[in-house]
Amino acid sequence: MCGIVGYVGNDQAAPILLKGLEKLEYRGYDSAGVAVYDGTSIQVVKKQGRLKVLEDKIHNGADLAGTVGIGHTRWATHGKPSDVNAHPHLSSSGRFAVVHNGIIENYLSLKNSLIQKGYSFVSETDTEVIAQLLDYFYEGDLLDAVVRTIGKIEGSYALGILCRDQPDRIIGIRKDSPLIVGLGTGENFIASDIPAILGKTRDIYRLKENEIAVVEKTGVTVYNPKKVFVSKTPCHIDWDVSAAEKGGYDHFMAKEIMEQPKAVRDTISPRIKNGRIVLDDIQLTEEQLRNLSRIFIVACGSAYHVGVVAKYILERYTRIPVEVDVASEFRYRAPVVDNRVLVIIISQSGETADTLAALREAKRLGARTLSIVNVVGSSIANESDDVIYTWAGPEIAVATTKAYSTQLAVIYLLAIYIADKIGTMKPEEYRHYISELEALPDKIEKTLSGRDHVRQLARRFYRSNDIFFIGRNLDYAMSLEGSLKLKEISYIHSEAYAAGELKHGTISLIEEGTLVVALATQQKLFEKMMGNVKEVKARGAVVLGVTTEDNQQIEKETDCAIYIPRTCEMMLPSLAVLPLQAFAYYVASLKGCDIDKPRNLAKSVTVE
Ligand code: F6R
Repeated sequence: MCGIVGYVGNDQAAPILLKGLEKLEYRGYDSAGVAVYDGTSIQVVKKQGRLKVLEDKIHNGADLAGTVGIGHTRWATHGKPSDVNAHPHLSSSGRFAVVHNGIIENYLSLKNSLIQKGYSFVSETDTEVIAQLLDYFYEGDLLDAVVRTIGKIEGSYALGILCRDQPDRIIGIRKDSPLIVGLGTGENFIASDIPAILGKTRDIYRLKENEIAVVEKTGVTVYNPKKVFVSKTPCHIDWDVSAAEKGGYDHFMAKEIMEQPKAVRDTISPRIKNGRIVLDDIQLTEEQLRNLSRIFIVACGSAYHVGVVAKYILERYTRIPVEVDVASEFRYRAPVVDNRVLVIIISQSGETADTLAALREAKRLGARTLSIVNVVGSSIANESDDVIYTWAGPEIAVATTKAYSTQLAVIYLLAIYIADKIGTMKPEEYRHYISELEALPDKIEKTLSGRDHVRQLARRFYRSNDIFFIGRNLDYAMSLEGSLKLKEISYIHSEAYAAGELKHGTISLIEEGTLVVALATQQKLFEKMMGNVKEVKARGAVVLGVTTEDNQQIEKETDCAIYIPRTCEMMLPSLAVLPLQAFAYYVASLKGCDIDKPRNLAKSVTVE
């Protein structure tokens, strides 16, 4: 989710790179840097903090001579935000500078083998191995070194590469992370996103997976990984800057909803190696896991809803008792916590005041703490005993979508990992869940492809005054999130209820035409849910059912339905939440609400 820019032309590169990076600031970042070839060597300047810090340091680029260079805004994944971890990264020889967007999954083993070959590393990043590998493979043919390097790295990447020995060009390459080439006159560009180059050109190449662009001032040549020339057709961009920032979507929330397959893949895939879950990030030992008397999950808002899902999953698969608490309640309720308790803290921002205070309280009481956090180096990440990062990238819309989905993914990883370690999951079950985990990103993509149907349903219901969400167990947890998403961005009153509980009071609010969204994704509870559907229909409700694609008989009971693909029960929430997010989004959009910045809400709640 970092920002990449590259320039080769006749003008001084550094000011152009900085201008390009300014246009990528909206994506969120924690540090920035540029590398420019000055006629003799590659000069790198990088600073933690706002771009302004870097701009001041190099006088808006005036201090750096040279007409070819690459620039970067970093959002930390491997290694905290710092000057040294900021990109570009130089090979030890100074021959290569690299900027990178993505995650190199096998960087630790590559780093170890490069260290044995005599390379030394200065940063904690995964990216530095790319610079060193390029240097290792370079024998005078730049394209060849690039091809051999990408043959070794696993994971996702968009790369900008500058080589001191071939300073008339930059290289751009991508896999599972976007990269475009900007086509100018006597100058050309690379960028991770269109806004970075819109001030210079509107003609671009969109690089496809594994395509390598050799970008010179007089032209751009694109190759496939076998070094075979690829003919590209330029594409003309007529978006304005605001549309370009949102990748052509109307809102960041829509863009982030669609980024979920990648976010979940980025979070899961580096942690599965040879069919096993590897949580390099945590120190929690098997013995500590076996000794746990209880797990607490503490969070706020949507992150708390992930905790509700996690309770069902962790208890079912690990048989360890789990309590879920809203952070603002936990910190004042004298919870029974000691050193046999694991407190799991969930937070996108890592800065939510109540959640941070709850973490401190848990530590004070002697618990072991593990946080699931999106922002590397945030307070919660820094103060927890262990951290598992969700690699969702920066989330800009106030209403969380992709961070929520990656938090769920970490819960699955953790549940399977703990159950395996303490012996509550059989090897064949373990294998089954790993294959379901690996298939999850594609199923998320498939579910999102059905969003037009959700849009039509939103058109039918967006004038509702009240909308109820009901479900049982995991579907109840999903109801909580579906209802919150809807009310926070559309301002429609909504409530979520455990389906069996509705009749103990709240059913009195159901009247002729009230929309009830009935989640019935779990096969074993399907008939029970249909009983609850009958109850609300008898009071005049209009029911929208959500179930798996093999349950089409739901429409005998409901007025309309949304279907999600089948997956194992544990992972149903990851699919069920998608139409709920989309429904909230389309309803809010039809109502003309300020979707990315809903009234009264902030992205990070740093006050109690
Ligand atoms: C809802 C939403 C909030 C956050 C909550 C916790 O869409 O985004 O409910 O989930 O404020 O924030 P973090 O996860 O940053 O601790």
